[in-house]
Amino acid sequence: DVETKVDSVLQLMTLEEKVGQMVQYNGSWDLTGPASGTDNKQKEERLKKGLVGSMLNVISVDATREAQRLNMENSRMKIPLIFGYDVIHGYKTIFPVPLGETASWDLEAMEKSARIAALESVADGINWTFSPMIDISRDARWGRIMEGSGEDPFLTSKVAVAKVKGYQGDDLSHPRTIAATAKHFAGYGLAEGGKDYNAVNIGENELHNVVLPPFHAAAEAGVATFMNSFNTIDGVPATGSENLQRDILKGDWDWKGFVVSDWGSIAEMVPHGFARDKVHAAEIAVKAGSDMDMEGGAYVAGLQKLVEEGKIDESLIDDAVRRILRVKFKMGLFEDPYRYADEDLNNSISYEEHRKEARDIARKSIVLLKNENDLLPIDNSVNKIAVIGPLADDKDSPIGNWRAQGETNSAVSVLEGLKAAAAENTEITYSKGVTLGEGERSFLFPLEINETDRSGISEAVKAAKDAELVVMVLGEDAFQSGEGRSQAYVGLAGLQMELVKEVQKVNQNIVLVLINGRPLEITWASENIPSIVEAWQLGTESGNAIADVLLGKYNPSGKLPVSFPRAVGQEPLYYNHLNTGRPYSEEHVTYAHYTDIENGPLYPFGYGLSYTDFEYGKPELSSSSLNTGETVTLSVELTNTGNVKGKEVVQLYLRDLVASLARPVKELKGFKLVELNPGETRTVEFQIDEEMLKFYSASGKWEAETGEFELMLGGNSEDVKSVKLNYSKS
Ligand code: IFM
Repeated sequence: DVETKVDSVLQLMTLEEKVGQMVQYNGSWDLTGPASGTDNKQKEERLKKGLVGSMLNVISVDATREAQRLNMENSRMKIPLIFGYDVIHGYKTIFPVPLGETASWDLEAMEKSARIAALESVADGINWTFSPMIDISRDARWGRIMEGSGEDPFLTSKVAVAKVKGYQGDDLSHPRTIAATAKHFAGYGLAEGGKDYNAVNIGENELHNVVLPPFHAAAEAGVATFMNSFNTIDGVPATGSENLQRDILKGDWDWKGFVVSDWGSIAEMVPHGFARDKVHAAEIAVKAGSDMDMEGGAYVAGLQKLVEEGKIDESLIDDAVRRILRVKFKMGLFEDPYRYADEDLNNSISYEEHRKEARDIARKSIVLLKNENDLLPIDNSVNKIAVIGPLADDKDSPIGNWRAQGETNSAVSVLEGLKAAAAENTEITYSKGVTLGEGERSFLFPLEINETDRSGISEAVKAAKDAELVVMVLGEDAFQSGEGRSQAYVGLAGLQMELVKEVQKVNQNIVLVLINGRPLEITWASENIPSIVEAWQLGTESGNAIADVLLGKYNPSGKLPVSFPRAVGQEPLYYNHLNTGRPYSEEHVTYAHYTDIENGPLYPFGYGLSYTDFEYGKPELSSSSLNTGETVTLSVELTNTGNVKGKEVVQLYLRDLVASLARPVKELKGFKLVELNPGETRTVEFQIDEEMLKFYSASGKWEAETGEFELMLGGNSEDVKSVKLNYSKS
């Protein structure tokens, strides 16, 4: 079995070779972090001696074969390398950014896009992705919010499992699957002030009830690897946290894979002020359970020496190497080190088929935020549409950040999508208005208007005057969100507000399409623009998917996985907050709110409209009391009261009314996608059991506490109907 094989290899290895397995080097031509200073010559020398366990950012079958060959043909132990890469939302065929894709709430579709990404990756020699990113984030300022599934632990857990299944399939050794990584362990998404790499100051309650559940779900789903994170939690760098890695992940959860550090995060414990130097950082990290050092500076510098000087026990190294070898055996690399570098695979892949899937998931990810007077879908009788905005004919922004091998300017733009799909009688004009993405200028706040901008705006105004309908495409530049892209303002950057306000003065029939990676502050637009479509960065098929929705070929069904703020000052903003001791008062000012803004988000978590309407009946429980080991059924009648077929995401929320720790005002506990014909009614059911009531309690364990619970059903986190349930232990 695998364990015997692992041991038989391990016992033949020298200490130097063992440490080598714990080192990962960048392929150097595509940096995703600051270079460690190890040059290519040194890397090659170490490869030949079998002193490298893995490489990242080595792209193509030829390049991975060559690195593998150097290692296999020259090293003593001939332990195959694994090749990691950030395949975050597709490889060549680009799918929506994860935040957008999560808005589909369609787990099957998300699993499928991961499977396609895995196949395309293998066809280019990659066998390990640093995905899924399952950091809970509640802050639109944080640039990496685009890379995760938003603010909810339950939804993110479901996506985590779907993604792991999609990448890894049922068998890690299958040559068309790749190993996945649950990252960043842990807390990275809760950086203070939404500033990337910043400190995370949360306690045990938040850690266990909010941050860890998706990671636990990924571990249970058999994810091959974990990546730790850059941040500190309550003063301890996650990379050096024994509690996270040894006690929880490898202890309580009994997970058998290996943990890779984030880029240089072991050595970064020096600037954190947690380690004296790289050697000390290596000591802390290996004790804490970081098994592989990405861009290797610290482990190369320190591990061998630390063992030889008796500062750490070799059993710690053995534990890490055993984990790394285990994954390599499970991937079948010892049988064939080149099994994921099949030169012929690429020719047999149908990229056309993949594009069809990309279009399907892209349109499912679109969220209709507003549709006054049924301006959408666009009627066949509309003769003249003015397509306006810096992103209207942009073929790059929809590809977004972390685009793997997705080509620059390879997306279908909104203009192209509309032209291809609009009725023959429809005349479509285009005007860019203002420029977005000219380096840093576009993100400056406030931005001064120049002559070119002025003439762009007046051209757009003229086009709008002449048209029956304006489709205005605004949002973010491709690299405006992503790693290191935190912002203090989350409105429409540059001169986009000037543009939309000027256009709105001459034509109020505006459909605003947003292309962005983070929740935007769009309060003015929500008050002044009749239709708003949240289209995220949808990837390769973006424009076609958007046209499908605008023209009514697809009835929008997406729901927000994250709250949209009225103002940036509300951040961090999330629906599953605590009640506080002063939740609301009409009588006095001293309650939890901001005095200068309406309470709550502009658009809440779970929100999204359709071209039809859904009506919820009264939720019914098969019994109003639940005992240990029992299940009760919660049901609700859902009716499509509109005129077209549509899909609704029925959401189940729960509140534990009195508990040993203050619990959120509501928490998502289930959801179902239900498609109904006009006039059709269906009973939607959820099974409620003790498991659903559990949380990490004041006694430091997952348990359901007896007492009263409120169960809520609805089409978004604010609009719900509730029923009470009493739980007791028999
Ligand atoms: O996987 C990424 C991580 O998310 C951020 N730092 C770099 C890694 C490798 O590119």
